[in-house]
Amino acid sequence: MNTATNRRILLVDDMPAIHDDFRKILAPAAAPADALDAVEAALFGDAPKAAPLSFEIDSAYQGQEGLALVEAALSAGQPYAMAFVDMRMPPGWDGVQTIERLWQADARLQVVICTAFADHSWNEVLERLDVRDRLLILKKPFDAIEVHQLASTLTAKWQTTHDAAVQLNALEEAVRERTREITQAMQTLQAEIGERKHLQGQLVQAEKLASIGQLAAGVAHEINNPIGYIFSNFGTLEGYLAKLFEMLSAYERAEPGVNPPEVAGQLRDLREQVELQFLKEDIPELMRESKQGIARVRQIVQDLKDFSRVDSAQDFEWANLHRGIDSTLNIVASEIKYKADVVKEYGDIPDIECLPSQLNQVVMNLVVNAAHAMGDAHGRIVIRTGTEGDQVWLEVADDGSGIPPDTLTRIFEPFFTTKPVGKGTGLGLSLSYGIVQKHQGRIEVDSVVGRGTTFRVTLPIRRPAVEGAAAAPVSG
Ligand SMILES: Nc1ncnc2c1ncn2[C@@H]1O[C@H](COP(=O)(O)OP(=O)(O)OP(=O)(O)O)[C@@H](O)[C@H]1O
Ligand SMILES: [Mg+2]
Repeated sequence: MNTATNRRILLVDDMPAIHDDFRKILAPAAAPADALDAVEAALFGDAPKAAPLSFEIDSAYQGQEGLALVEAALSAGQPYAMAFVDMRMPPGWDGVQTIERLWQADARLQVVICTAFADHSWNEVLERLDVRDRLLILKKPFDAIEVHQLASTLTAKWQTTHDAAVQLNALEEAVRERTREITQAMQTLQAEIGERKHLQGQLVQAEKLASIGQLAAGVAHEINNPIGYIFSNFGTLEGYLAKLFEMLSAYERAEPGVNPPEVAGQLRDLREQVELQFLKEDIPELMRESKQGIARVRQIVQDLKDFSRVDSAQDFEWANLHRGIDSTLNIVASEIKYKADVVKEYGDIPDIECLPSQLNQVVMNLVVNAAHAMGDAHGRIVIRTGTEGDQVWLEVADDGSGIPPDTLTRIFEPFFTTKPVGKGTGLGLSLSYGIVQKHQGRIEVDSVVGRGTTFRVTLPIRRPAVEGAAAAPVSG
């Protein structure tokens, strides 16, 4: 709190004699008596008499000059507490005009207007100045004690008002600071809530996929054996059929020599009836189709196993991700070239410890999906890579259809597809998810309907040491 009261007073009057009078009253030179009093007090221990208050007085003889002093005092940070202003000061501004200008410069200035004449109607003066709480009227001739009391009271009032304003400012600043802190705390909280929600969502998704993974592993395990022997039996069956056809051909060739002739006729009739020629053509065709079907089932079973991370027997090796991407792009080139241009934006990435052929599968799934997401217009697929701490990342971004939010939550589920029957199995992404999990990485997707989709795969450069626990929760 300010302890020194502001006692700076400005006197604006065109008469020098008035200035002398005010000085005598408000700033009397230290009287010798004061010094004597002090000596007396020191010698005899009496309390010194309280000296009357003294003020700092500055003089101006015209309104303009007064204004200049007020402005200079303000910019020096030493404002006046009050001013005595004469009403009549020819040739310059009169008192009312002067006060108007002084208040424009410093609204806190306390003012006493001094006059001997009824130059203005007082009501008119008060109306013009429009501020009644900073203005007092002093009529000539002055009384010394009246002047002194006015000065004491108004300077004290200025100081009180000033201190209150300082306190209020400090209070407002404290409130602002608190508000800032609270706002910041709210923002942090909001961000934390958002992050927590996000993590919760990821956890739910991971748990869902883990339980689907167990189911898939079970199904894969059950189907795997029968499919295995069907597939190998098929190979044998093909060999047997080839031999049977060979035998039949031999019989056919021997047919003309069969005796008696009616037996030969019966054989010919039977051959025509069973459409032997057609069977010879159709059976290999059926076999081929069935074999393809079985191969497809086998592939699906393998994908399911990869998704559920059953077979993690393969060896991790150090490999270059860019080489893998390039070779994968070569393989799928024919599938995507009519749909989209592929742009590579490779960063500077190190080799990583991984299962290269499985990562190629991930890239292939992502790129083929991106191509499938293109509409009629030729699109653009951007493949980016980069490093982030001890991880590398790979992005496949397309400007295709985008994925609506309700679909987005399901795309990693096995057999979830929006593609027509025969076009998609719905295993691509679930498989990719499993492979990335096996690498203890993560796969994320960001999609805007009508704008496109970006898949981002993040993988550790070095395979993390503790493998078993987190990476292979599902056993075959
Ligand atoms: N880049 C993409 N843009 C738009 N939709 C996508 C994209 N990638 C995946 N999807 C959606 O996710 C679904 C699942 O994808 P996923 O790769 O698992 O299966 P699929 O492509 O339908 O079939 P599969 O890959 O087995 O042939 C797709 O059917 C499609 O709806
Ligand atoms: Mg796919």
